[in-house]
Amino acid sequence: MQQIGVIGGGTMGAGIAEVCAKAGSDVVIVEVKQEFADAARARVEKSLAKAVSRNKLAQDDADAALGRLRVTTDYADLADRELVIEAAPEIEELKREIFANLEEATGANTILATNTSSIPIIKVATATKTPERVVGVHFFNPVPVMPLVEIISTLTTAPETADAVSAYVTDTLGKTAVRAGDRSGFIVNALLIPYLCQAIRMFDSGYASAEDIDLAMKGGCGYPMGPLTLLDTIGLDVTLSAAESLYAEFAEPHYAPPALLRRMVDAGRLGRKTGRGFYTY
Ligand code: 3HC
Repeated sequence: MQQIGVIGGGTMGAGIAEVCAKAGSDVVIVEVKQEFADAARARVEKSLAKAVSRNKLAQDDADAALGRLRVTTDYADLADRELVIEAAPEIEELKREIFANLEEATGANTILATNTSSIPIIKVATATKTPERVVGVHFFNPVPVMPLVEIISTLTTAPETADAVSAYVTDTLGKTAVRAGDRSGFIVNALLIPYLCQAIRMFDSGYASAEDIDLAMKGGCGYPMGPLTLLDTIGLDVTLSAAESLYAEFAEPHYAPPALLRRMVDAGRLGRKTGRGFYTY
């Protein structure tokens, strides 16, 4: 597979497009407006420039990767894609609409993947008439740096669909793939989200400061970021939708979104991307 499509050019979509283009694939990002498509390209350019400045990538390779990237607002540009990875906002109805459009826009053999954090994959697969070619491919933020990708098969995913995507992720992108069943949160978020929610409850109860909670988990457990810094990085809105999906799936109290998380999302304090979350940027 070398012809890749990415739906959505936000943090995750741009990161996925970047790693695919760096690995030699031809990549098309589809956005809803030209302005967003241009912003997606700018995101990839910025990250490639950072990789060059950190001596992770030669300037020529960054230029070549950018040369393999196109941005568009037209689904018709996906007609020749072998794999399309959807990285749109975490709204089930929106994703179902995208998958119905993708089925029309792509060839019968195109693999359709979703990067959803926690919506069960079958919910988007059933928006198509060919759910055997739909699979979950979950990357981690920041995509160019984090080595893991979760591959999620639904009850209807064809084994060859999951195998082909897994081979692309490991052999072409050089990432580590793990397989998980189609349960909300898969492996990582099912473990990570309750931990992050618990950190919010601890902060909200006032018995430790944000700085001390973060310092404690960095210094005490060797985590690269404390939980509240990580929440600001992931985005509080993304975390809230992940917690809501997990709670809807398992109805266990530790998955329930804390009230403070909801209030911060209501207030538009979404973390780094809006300049304010648990910290101010
Ligand atoms: N391209 C390539 N490499 C890059 C890069 C880029 N754009 N930007 C940074 N790097 C490299 C750096 O060169 C450095 O490499 P080195 O260790 O070999 O020198 C490495 O990445 C780390 O970069 P920095 O030195 O700039 O930054 P830090 O050391 O502070 O690490 C971090 C930043 C990697 C983000 C680290 O803090 C971390 O791992 N944090 C936790 C992230 C995490 O948990 N992510 C998962 C979130 S959950 C998720 O995404 C799921 C979703 O569904 C919610």
